[in-house]
Amino acid sequence: MRILHVVGARPNFMKAAPVIREMANYPGLFSQLLLHTGQHYDRQMSQVFFDELDLPHPDVNLEVGSGSHAWQTAQIMMGFEPILIDFDPDWVVVYGDVNSTMACSVVCSKLDYQVAHVEAGLRSYDRRMPEEINRLVTDQLAELLFTTSDEAIHNLEREGVDRSKVHFVGNVMIDTLVHLLPKAQDKWSHLSSLYPYDRYLLVTLHRPSNVDDLATLVEIMSALDEISGEIPVLFPVHPRTRERIIEFGLQPDKSKLIFLEPLGYLDFLALQAHATLVLTDSGGIQEETTYLGVACLTARSNTERPVTISMGTNQLVESSSEALLSALRSRLAHPGAQKSIPPLWDGQSARRIVQVFQEITNR
Ligand code: UD1
Repeated sequence: MRILHVVGARPNFMKAAPVIREMANYPGLFSQLLLHTGQHYDRQMSQVFFDELDLPHPDVNLEVGSGSHAWQTAQIMMGFEPILIDFDPDWVVVYGDVNSTMACSVVCSKLDYQVAHVEAGLRSYDRRMPEEINRLVTDQLAELLFTTSDEAIHNLEREGVDRSKVHFVGNVMIDTLVHLLPKAQDKWSHLSSLYPYDRYLLVTLHRPSNVDDLATLVEIMSALDEISGEIPVLFPVHPRTRERIIEFGLQPDKSKLIFLEPLGYLDFLALQAHATLVLTDSGGIQEETTYLGVACLTARSNTERPVTISMGTNQLVESSSEALLSALRSRLAHPGAQKSIPPLWDGQSARRIVQVFQEITNR
C-alpha cells in the first residue's frame, strides 16, 4: 500500500510522527512518502520537531512559505499536484486542520485519490476561524476519517458523512506525548535552572482573533503585564504574535513577563507538565494539558475540543483584560485537580489507525 503523508505546519508534525513510525514497522505492507508543504519553515517552527520527534527527513519539501490564505492554499495545490501524480499513492494521509490539510485534500479528490483524515470531525461551529473551513472541507472529501472523541463522530453524522468511513481511534497527539514525556522530563533540570520558579504561568497565543486585532491584543497584554506582578509568566512567542507585538508597540516596559523564542517539542512539554496554569488559544495544548492534568484557560469564545472541558482541565475565557485577570486569579487560587483522560487517549491511536489500513488491505 502506497501512503503519501502531508504535513505543513507545527501542529501536524506531532500527529504524523506516530503514524509514520507505526507504518514503518510493516515494511512489507506500507511504502511511505513524506511531503512537507513548507507552510512553516523557521527552524523553531519546523526542523526542531523533525529532530525531536524522530520524523524522517521529508522526501519532498514544497517550500511554500507564508502568504494570504488564497495565495498559500493555491501554492500548496500547484506544488502538490505533480508529486501526487508521480507517486500515485493508494492513500493520502492528512492531519489536523491547517491550510496544507485542506489544500491537498482538494487536489486529491479532483484527481480521484483517496484521502484519510487524522483528527476528523472537530467543530467549533465558528466559521470565522480559518481552521473550521479547513475541517469542513477536508471531512467532506475524506474517504477515511479517524476521530479523537464521541463528539467528533456526532458532528460527522450530522453532516451526512457515511458512518462506515469513520473510525474512533483516539488521539495521535497524545501518542507522541506519552512516547516523549520521559525525554521531556529529562530536560526539566536544565529548564528549572533557567527558570527557577516553583509556580509559573505558561502562555501561548497565536490565533488571528486574539493577536491580529489591536484592541484585543492590548487587552491581553495588559492582563499579562498585571498578572506578572503576582506570578512569573513564561511566554514563548509565535512569529505571528511577535510581529503584531512589535507592529503595535506592545512590549511592556518593566514587566516580569518573560518572552521566549518558540520552543521545541520537548522543552515546551516539560514546561507544560510543570506549569501551575497554562493560558493558550491553541487546539493541541487544550488536549495536552487535559492529559497532563494541568489547569488550562483557553482565550477563545468556543472550542472544537469540548471534551477537554467536559472531562479535562480546560476552561474558556473571554479575551478582555478584566475577564482574563479574574479567571487567572481564580484558577491560580484553585488550579483544580485532574479530572479524567478521555477514552482512547492512551498512546495507542497510531496502532489503531494502522490496523484499519491493514483491514482494508485484507478486504
Ligand atoms: C497556522 C495554522 C493554525 C495553527 C498554527 C500553529 C492555518 C490557517 N493556520 O497558523 O491552524 O494553529 O499554524 O502554529 O493553517 N511565520 C514565520 N515562520 C514560520 C511560519 C510562520 O515567521 O515558520 C510567520 C509569518 O509571518 C506568517 C505568520 O507567521 O505570515 C503566520 O503563519 P501562517 O502559517 O500563515 O499561520 P499560523 O498563524 O502559523
